Amino acid sequence: MWLGRCLREMVGFWVVCVCLVLIVNGVKDASEEDDQLQPYRTAFHFQPLKNWMNDPNGPMYFNGVYHLFYQYNPYGPLWGNISWGHSISYDLINWFLLQPVLEPNQPNYDINGCLSGSITILNGSKPIILYTGQDLNKSQVQNIAFPTNLSDPFLRNWIKWSGNPFLTPGNDIKPTQFRDPSTAWMGVDGKWRIVIGSEIDGHGTALLYSSTDGINWTRSEKPLHFSSKTGMWECPDFYPVGNGGKRGFDTSEQGNNTMYVLKASYNNREYYVIGNYDEKTDRFGVVGNDFMVSNTEFQYDYGRFYASKSFYDNAKQRRVIWGWVNEGDSESDAVKKGWSGLQSFPRSVWLSDTGKQLVQWPVDEIEKLRTKQVNITNRELKGGTLEITRITASQADVEVSFSLSNLNKAELIDSETVDPQLLCAQKNASVSGIFGPFGLLVLASNNFTEQTAVFFRVFKGPNKFLVLMCSDQSRSSIAEEVDKSIYGAFLDLDPHHKISLRTLIDHSIVESFGGEGVACMTARVYPKLATNKEAKLYVFNNGTETISISTLNAWSMNKAQIVPMA
Ligand SMILES: *[C@@H]1O[C@H](CO)[C@@H](O)[C@H](O)[C@H]1NC(C)=O
Ligand SMILES: *[C@@H]1O[C@H](CO)[C@@H](O)[C@H](O)[C@H]1NC(C)=O
Ligand SMILES: *[C@@H]1O[C@H](CO)[C@@H](O)[C@H](O)[C@H]1NC(C)=O
Ligand SMILES: *[C@@H]1O[C@H](CO)[C@@H](O)[C@H](O)[C@H]1NC(C)=O
Ligand SMILES: *[C@@H]1O[C@H](CO)[C@@H](O)[C@H](O)[C@H]1NC(C)=O
Ligand SMILES: *[C@@H]1O[C@H](CO)[C@@H](O)[C@H](O)[C@H]1NC(C)=O
Ligand SMILES: *[C@@H]1O[C@H](CO)[C@@H](O)[C@H](O)[C@H]1NC(C)=O
Ligand SMILES: *[C@@H]1O[C@H](CO)[C@@H](O)[C@H](O)[C@H]1NC(C)=O
Ligand SMILES: *[C@@H]1O[C@H](CO)[C@@H](O)[C@H](O)[C@H]1NC(C)=O
Ligand SMILES: *[C@@H]1O[C@H](CO)[C@@H](O)[C@H](O)[C@H]1NC(C)=O
Repeated sequence: MWLGRCLREMVGFWVVCVCLVLIVNGVKDASEEDDQLQPYRTAFHFQPLKNWMNDPNGPMYFNGVYHLFYQYNPYGPLWGNISWGHSISYDLINWFLLQPVLEPNQPNYDINGCLSGSITILNGSKPIILYTGQDLNKSQVQNIAFPTNLSDPFLRNWIKWSGNPFLTPGNDIKPTQFRDPSTAWMGVDGKWRIVIGSEIDGHGTALLYSSTDGINWTRSEKPLHFSSKTGMWECPDFYPVGNGGKRGFDTSEQGNNTMYVLKASYNNREYYVIGNYDEKTDRFGVVGNDFMVSNTEFQYDYGRFYASKSFYDNAKQRRVIWGWVNEGDSESDAVKKGWSGLQSFPRSVWLSDTGKQLVQWPVDEIEKLRTKQVNITNRELKGGTLEITRITASQADVEVSFSLSNLNKAELIDSETVDPQLLCAQKNASVSGIFGPFGLLVLASNNFTEQTAVFFRVFKGPNKFLVLMCSDQSRSSIAEEVDKSIYGAFLDLDPHHKISLRTLIDHSIVESFGGEGVACMTARVYPKLATNKEAKLYVFNNGTETISISTLNAWSMNKAQIVPMA
């Protein structure tokens, strides 16, 4: 409109010049203007241009291309019309947005939503989608889709199988509790297997199915696993991990000393167990803690992260995991923003050296986006804050490690089974201790009215030291109505060694990795003051003991290219 008026009114050469100058300036400021209008859009976390997104679906690497599908509403910023959105990438950083591949239009099997599912590359060359559809009666059934043209490098078009649905819930399963088929794996007998999330007699269950051709599936008498302590399991994932080293494995690969991970989504969190799997009998035996048996069970992420899905990246022989990071603001905010939902930054996942838990770390490709760097080595921090200047604090990758001495002075804690999230809430960043709180203050406004504190505390328990990690959103925003949860977890590490923290700061998401990735914590925040150039970054120590910053490296991050494919 502005341009039109300008052109209409131009009467001579000088006016044209003025118009051109204004246009050039307008272009230059466009992205800054977008940042002002949309302070919560992210720069390097995946999100579509607009609308609703939830679970990641069917991620894969195929013929040199990464594919990410996702639960997507093409028509609005709230859940509905659930389709499979589709994007492709060569590096897991920059993405081309394509047309949705599955839309809800079949009364007999998916008219009420093309829900979550997975991709299996059959025989190494033929990808197929297995997904859950909700039929006209809102019964959940399982369906298949195939790419229409395997010569298309982007697999833009998929066709639903004429025989859909290939599975309907059995008599012992409620029609609304039968969803999210996993990627298949092939056993020594040459048969494919999948698990599907369900609940039987009130117990969270991973139903097991097998097939010789990937199409005709038969339910096994016994589920792969179930838990009498949880309800419905969503989005089960089952995959091998090596015993030592970061290498990942294809679901069908039978390595030496291979352990297996079973992940189930419930209670808004991602829980996993590690165990042995006997390929011949399909028996999965948990080693260590089973689901909900004690409060020391493991979660992929102790913050806002759900319905994740992993895939094997054959190009780099690693397993990569994506998770949905939902919003902590209201539906009316989603309508105002025009969008809702992010994906976590893709993470490599492997079994820790202890063999007891997983380690996750942002994929290395993230380093492509790093620009300006600042670093600090061996700096003592008595108390208070140290500002990290000269980088874009609203869009940054920060790695810091701390070293502590005189640990015998640590606060005593009388139980090793206290709930870490509760402890973080009782002892938030404002509550001074001996060792801690110390860590990062991110997205802070000039006078700390707003701040998100990601920090540690060290305690001496009856038998060992405890390292607590917290992400405290209680002061993240002056807005009243947004979620301000505080998250917490204990890290399995010895505080005599360095305690490290890596935090990806991206406008409205703060994704943290403690102890080199033994615990992850993702938060969504909606600062009103600490947006864009107003945001500041600090290291802080609110404990009475002096700590030392061994190293700190922080980078400004470039924006990833996430654009529609021409
Ligand atoms: C679903 O799509 C239709 C248009 O096809 C639209 O009218 C409706 O509002 C959409 N529902 C939601 C919840 O977005
Ligand atoms: C929906 O329910 C009706 C009535 O029970 C039944 O006749 C119909 O076959 C069902 N439709 C589907 C797609 O299962
Ligand atoms: C399949 O994809 C290839 C590569 O994009 C293209 O050349 C070919 O025309 C496509 N075939 C059909 C039937 O669309
Ligand atoms: C995969 O190979 C098996 C046997 O090698 C065959 O029975 C099956 O039909 C093949 N599947 C596909 C999708 O080509
Ligand atoms: C599907 O597999 C089962 C078990 O292997 C078999 O009994 C049945 O005949 C197969 N159905 C079709 C249509 O191939
Ligand atoms: C398993 O170990 C044997 C003997 O060390 C080795 O030859 C083989 O390659 C290993 N297999 C895998 C899948 O690592
Ligand atoms: C510290 O940062 C500078 C750039 O500011 C970089 O050249 C240097 O390599 C960094 N040092 C370390 C140890 O990372
Ligand atoms: C932090 O904890 C203290 C002590 O429990 C409490 O008084 C204070 O209100 C908390 N701060 C916030 C921002 O919740
Ligand atoms: C440190 O503690 C003081 C006193 O409780 C509080 O005012 C301040 O906000 C705290 N710092 C941080 C980073 O929370
Ligand atoms: C902090 O800054 C904000 C905005 O810059 C201002 O409204 C507020 O009064 C300040 N608070 C204090 C305690 O200085």
